[in-house]
Amino acid sequence: MSRDAPVVAVDGPGGSGKGTVCRALQRATGWHLLDSGAIYRALAFAARRRGVDPQRGDGIVQLARDLDVSFEPDSDGQIRVTVDGDDVTLELREERTGNLASQVAVIPAVREALLDRQRAFRAAPGLVADGRDMGTVVFPDAELKVFLTASAEERALRRHKQLKEQGVDGNLADLLREINERDERDSTRATAPLKPASDAEVIDTTGLTVEQVVGKVMTLLENRLSL
Ligand code: DC
Repeated sequence: MSRDAPVVAVDGPGGSGKGTVCRALQRATGWHLLDSGAIYRALAFAARRRGVDPQRGDGIVQLARDLDVSFEPDSDGQIRVTVDGDDVTLELREERTGNLASQVAVIPAVREALLDRQRAFRAAPGLVADGRDMGTVVFPDAELKVFLTASAEERALRRHKQLKEQGVDGNLADLLREINERDERDSTRATAPLKPASDAEVIDTTGLTVEQVVGKVMTLLENRLSL
């Protein structure tokens, strides 16, 4: 790990706008991007495909250590995720993969097994790290820690709109229930629960546009880096 490369850690619940904000931050800074949720999703996907039961034995921990996942931009600059050489970008975005990822992410030995893999993304000129525990566990020395929130209702609406754009007609009430369930599991787990680091800047994105949120984070980052 390069100790010199600065990190901006962006944490928050699903639907808080982290992914969109992090991609915009990456474009604005030219830094690397770590989508840590995609690693948990890739693990969940690989477990389902190989029939590894996350609740039983240490098969899931071994899989976390051996996982063959890679992130490569396609010709449009969109990141494609491959697992065992197969492009699974679309499958990873499915709600059921996110839910299984959240269950797999509860297991402390799985989180431990994925730590070095995440820290390896830290490289010059810098890293935008998107996740749940970037500021608390993975990069506790990040130059800037941001925690994004939004009401569960707004997050369900955003997810509904996102699915519609993908041609999927999600049920709003189901989405809201799933968001609440996932929040509960992610924030009450014993290891690395979803919570703001004590030195994080908390930004409520309810009612804000992506541009407004990115503007706030960029101002914070410019102030930190010129200190
Ligand atoms: O951000 P996401 O929806 O892609 O993440 C999927 C799940 O992975 C999320 O519900 C919890 C887990 N996760 C985690 O525990 N720690 C992270 N740093 C990122 C994701």
